[in-house]
Amino acid sequence: MSETILIIEDEQLLGRELRGYYVDLGYEAVWASTCQEARETLKSPGMKPAVILSDLNLPDGNGLDLLEEFRAIVSACEWVFLTGYGDVPDSVRALRLGAFDFLTKPCEQEHLDMVVQSAVRSAQAQRRILTDSLNAGKRYAPESYLGSSNVARQTVEMLRQLSQVPYSALILTGETGSGKGLAARILHYNSQRSREPLVELNCAALPKELMESELFGHEAGAFTGAKSRHRGLIEQADKGTLFLDEIGEMPLDLQAKLLKVLEDRKVRRLGGEQETTVDIQIITATNRNLQDEIKAGNFRSDLYYRLSVFEIRLPSLRERIEDLQDLVPNLIAEFNLKAGKKVTQVSSQAWERMKNYAWPGNIRELRNVLERSVILSSTEQLPEQWLPAAGSHAATMPIVNNAGAIDAEFFGHGGADEKHSLDLQFPTDGSMGLDEMESEIVRKMLEKYHGNVTEVSRVLKTTREKIRYRIGKYHLR
Ligand SMILES: Nc1ncnc2c1ncn2[C@@H]1O[C@H](COP(=O)(O)OP(=O)(O)OP(=O)(O)O)[C@@H](O)[C@H]1O
Ligand SMILES: [Mg+2]
Repeated sequence: MSETILIIEDEQLLGRELRGYYVDLGYEAVWASTCQEARETLKSPGMKPAVILSDLNLPDGNGLDLLEEFRAIVSACEWVFLTGYGDVPDSVRALRLGAFDFLTKPCEQEHLDMVVQSAVRSAQAQRRILTDSLNAGKRYAPESYLGSSNVARQTVEMLRQLSQVPYSALILTGETGSGKGLAARILHYNSQRSREPLVELNCAALPKELMESELFGHEAGAFTGAKSRHRGLIEQADKGTLFLDEIGEMPLDLQAKLLKVLEDRKVRRLGGEQETTVDIQIITATNRNLQDEIKAGNFRSDLYYRLSVFEIRLPSLRERIEDLQDLVPNLIAEFNLKAGKKVTQVSSQAWERMKNYAWPGNIRELRNVLERSVILSSTEQLPEQWLPAAGSHAATMPIVNNAGAIDAEFFGHGGADEKHSLDLQFPTDGSMGLDEMESEIVRKMLEKYHGNVTEVSRVLKTTREKIRYRIGKYHLR
């Protein structure tokens, strides 16, 4: 389906020309020559423009007033202003109101094309977020956090209560795999903001420069490679929730910038002059002890106090081991459905094994173990041999030798260097998940390079941040 561009332009010649131009490019182009006409067009059923290309001064009003009137009604749409009078106050107001760009006539066709193209992409991204959020709303009811132990019930109750009240910031703590990501979704999708975007960034996954431009956005030319304007994640989360995962990994200078956004409720793109007002709620998550990080000088205490207006600690699976009674049948049912299996019975030995194991990777580890067991089942009984034994360690998974070797392609550009081959052999019969293989690769590499993260990241052609993130995730210290 082609995208719609609404052109609001009173100059007959230019209006007609623009419409013809965009129709030729394959867009659905609609032209209105007055504010009134534009209003009627925007209210007509099925009218969902991706971009509105508007003149400023129109015979019966001003394009900016139209933007102000319609911005809450027309969703997933970007406004670009094209005006003969490039007034600074107007451009400031336009950007304050959330316009995508403000161009002065005459404007080079090439430049206009680029701006319109990136505005269309931005509108499409917003639309995707909106549809995702409608579907997700159904999936993340507070009850999707399973468990009937006291701690689990308290956690659900807390999630339910906090999703009903407005707060500026909230921090989720807990071990890896304990459900911080799930809790963040429950909080967002049951709140007043549920129809607005939930925008997520994993601070451990990006190098610093990229994280900065992702979060704060940039103007064209802000740095080499910044071809066009980019709206940062903070702006994209406007009216919704910004979820910063692994906040403990954020570099100190970005912590300072984030603190400023929280204090001023305004964000400025890299290389930009204007500040844009944002209304966001921030959820952060960490499996580090931030108090320790503050003492070690790795985390700003002032930011911590801003972020920890509320704190929810997600209990580990060990603390609520009786919840296996709820979790195991639910997860088995989920994987039965996915793999077309019919596992319905869990022997008492299997229960014992699961209850006596420490689950350092918490629910994520439980999910992986059960998924593998269900896939490999041949009867209605959950096979026991794939369940971890008490006292065993998560990182020492069985490596079977009868299967092909797999390289480390998922680390980014290419796999491990041949000269450094570890001859890793992984089963490809479904008995081992990607996470376990990845953990095994990083573990072996760390062993080989005596824990030197820089060296390991170089050999695996990835960033230190990514390796450090995986060390934490898979408990490889
Ligand atoms: N109480 C629960 N009930 C059902 N599923 C859960 C529960 N807690 C966690 N899960 C599931 O376990 C998996 C891991 O949880 P999640 O990704 O939220 O953990 P996390 O704390 O964010 O981990 P990490 O620190 O590694 O990012 C997810 O698939 C999540 O849906
Ligand atoms: Mg997570």
